[in-house]
Parts: sequence; structure tokens; C-alpha cells
Amino acid sequence: MDVFQVAIDGPVGAGKSTIARLTAARTGFTYIDTGAMYRAVALYALRNGADPAVCGEETVDAMLGGILISLETTGDGQKVFLNGEDVTGLIRGPEATRGSSAAAVYPSVRAMVTARAREIAADGNVIMDGRDIGTAVLPDAKLKVYLDAAVGIRAERRYKELVEKGGSPDFETLVNEIKQRDYNDTHRAADPLRRAEDAVDIDVGGMNAEEVVETILSLIKERGGC
Ligand code: DC
Repeated sequence: MDVFQVAIDGPVGAGKSTIARLTAARTGFTYIDTGAMYRAVALYALRNGADPAVCGEETVDAMLGGILISLETTGDGQKVFLNGEDVTGLIRGPEATRGSSAAAVYPSVRAMVTARAREIAADGNVIMDGRDIGTAVLPDAKLKVYLDAAVGIRAERRYKELVEKGGSPDFETLVNEIKQRDYNDTHRAADPLRRAEDAVDIDVGGMNAEEVVETILSLIKERGGC
């Protein structure tokens, strides 16, 4: 079967998952959120007494055999299952967020998540988002997109999201967290965040989600995806 794979990469807060989810809904392609998979690995390690930010790769590596991650698209969004348990909400907590950033540094964790993401993607049309999708996970994707925006704009979006959820975030702290995560993502040795040479750049700064989705839909159409 001739499959159409869309790879969406970019830094934290560029809106990758929202855009990927909306584009998947419009095309009927399967959405695969690889960030959620790193978060599920971190949650498992934390629950088993191994904080990936503290323990070495060997400790986390020894646990990987006990982890099965599944994704399910429902009318209510994408659900993430860790060994059959719905952990969709739990993986968004601060510990799993920090732990995922640390776990994503380990090559054995990256190899496991990459293999599982490819397995889920096998034989179907997919939209996959992450940091290394165009460069490492799906190097032959028919469309690669790199979403980006200035740090201040990404922080502003995160700020609004948190306020809408009832939080009272500190803007400067958010800016610093985003800068730190950008640094971690671009400086790790294994599959760092970088745009694939053949990726299409989209500066999402002055665009709303609908405009970004429309841009991607035109690119999919242009390349014969639908
Ligand atoms: O996109 P996110 O915040 O849910 O990702 C969680 C962590 O996983 C983040 O620290 C970056 C990392 N990640 C990665 O290294 N490679 C991917 N393909 C996806 C996420």
C-alpha cells in the first residue's frame, strides 16, 4: 500500500500537537504523538522508583521491556495507554514533563520509542509529531513540516493556556523554562531537534491554528496525499 506520512517537528510550544491533531481530523490520517510516548516512559520509570533525571541510562534501560505504549484516537482526542492503563492526563503532570525531557536523552529510550512509533505507523497514512520525526523516525515521509515561532510568542501561548485552565503562571518563569527545554532538545547527542533539510518551514507566529492547518492541507494535496 502506498502510504502518506506527514512529519511535524519543532520546538516546545510551537503548537505541533494541536496542529497535528486538527490536520489528522481533517484528513482521516492517524495521529501519533511521540512526545506523549516519552512522557509515558518517564511516568513508568517514576512509578518504579527511577527518576530519569537522577538515575542513569542503565536503570531506565532495564525497565524498557516492561513498557507497552498504545495510542487510541477517540471522539474525545487521543488517549495514551501505558500497559493498558489510560494515562492521558497523568503524563501531562510536572514530574512526567521533567522526566520525559531527561529520558529523551537516553539512546535506548529513543530507540524504543522510535520502534514503537514506526510499528503504530506501519501501513497507514499518519501524521506524527515530535522533535526528530523528519530526521530520524520517518526520514522518507512525503511531507515534512517544521513549525517554529519566537520564544516570546511561544511563552505567551503557554501563558494563556495555563490561565484558561485556572492557573496563575509567572511569564518570566515560562520564558526561562522554554529556553531551557529548547537548549535540552537541541543539544542532546542522540537525535537532537533540528529541521530536516527537505522540511517546509512554517513560522506560526502570526498565524492562527486554522491557517496553519490549511497550509499543511494544501501541501498534502499538492503532494498527492488526498
Ligand atoms: O512534545 P512534548 O513536550 O510532549 O515532549 C515531551 C519530551 O519528549 C520533550 O522533552 C521532548 C521529548 N521528545 C523528543 O525528544 N523527541 C520526540 N520525537 C518527541 C518528544
